[in-house]
Amino acid sequence: MQNKINTLKPDLLQKIEQANNLTALDEIRVAALGKNGAITVLMKELGTLPVEEKKQAGQVLNVFKTEIANTLEAKKKKLEEAEMNAKLASQKVDVTLPVRPNSVGRIHPVSQVMEEMLTIFAQMGFDLAEGPDIEDDWHNFEALNIPPSHPARQMQATFFMEGDSDKILRTHTSGVQIRTMENKKPPIKIVAPGRVYRVDYDATHTPMFHQIEGLVIDKTTNLAHLKGVLEEFLKLFFETDDVKLRFRPSFFPFTEPSYEADVGGSLAKSIGKEWIELLGCGMVHPNVLKNCGIDPNEYQGFAFGCGIDRFAMLKYGIPDLRNMFDADMRWIKHYGFLPTDIPTITSGLSLTAGSKK
Ligand code: DAH
Repeated sequence: MQNKINTLKPDLLQKIEQANNLTALDEIRVAALGKNGAITVLMKELGTLPVEEKKQAGQVLNVFKTEIANTLEAKKKKLEEAEMNAKLASQKVDVTLPVRPNSVGRIHPVSQVMEEMLTIFAQMGFDLAEGPDIEDDWHNFEALNIPPSHPARQMQATFFMEGDSDKILRTHTSGVQIRTMENKKPPIKIVAPGRVYRVDYDATHTPMFHQIEGLVIDKTTNLAHLKGVLEEFLKLFFETDDVKLRFRPSFFPFTEPSYEADVGGSLAKSIGKEWIELLGCGMVHPNVLKNCGIDPNEYQGFAFGCGIDRFAMLKYGIPDLRNMFDADMRWIKHYGFLPTDIPTITSGLSLTAGSKK
């Protein structure tokens, strides 16, 4: 045994010494200590020795085996360290390289203005409601007191879904009024922003645009409340106390009386006008309340609806609505906002039942 070890040992130690990478070293390990390795074979041979030799040979062989294992381990550590050093040397970071051009995005003015509006309404205690873009006839028209033959339908030419005449792209956010009242008993105080669709295209009309709807229903809610809410909102939104509000009698099937609200004061003057038409509003029609299972003898309220894009154009001096949806990076860089400009108070808004159906 000692003889065999004497020949094996220098050979193994030399090979370990000369191994210059981890793969080569592992091959040596397998050749020595693996299943059929030289030392493993010697271990097996122990069993064939006479008892009196076995003990001593066993001890010698164990010492040898440990020595080889330790030498292998030490070499392995050395090689790993060398490999790491080589890696560090070759993959040096050149901190003098110029940085990559950064491309911080911008918040679209419509998103920005939507946030600003919601923030103000949240401060006034309004909840947030939502409805689907693909609406049915009942919520978009009929429940809003617009029967199939009503001429008001012509004012809002929409897109129909092929194969299902009851599915349309909503023409206004007013349908969320219905969804909210169907799901929740008064008192109700919601705003509902979102995309709406109509067959229109010119400098102030695009087939897709954005509206925000307001609805307040309670026992004594009246026109004075509506005027107060709108006036306060306009002052906060346009950041000026010089806001004049004018209600002009108008017609909407879902309100009675109905008004167009115009804004005057410095804002209108800034674009050379005395009044700017801003939004539609009125007292919710008793038929609409009835359609939602609310007793008009017990409850009443107001509603309003306006174009978010229009507010964005007014506040930030954007001349053509169509550019808003062109996805032109030059336009977005000019009119867009950095993320830090977004107010964050809307996280306090709670979602009402309107969105569930
Ligand atoms: N839905 C109307 C439109 O799209 C706007 C509107 C008018 C909404 C009067 C209302 C309202 O809630 O009371 O033109």
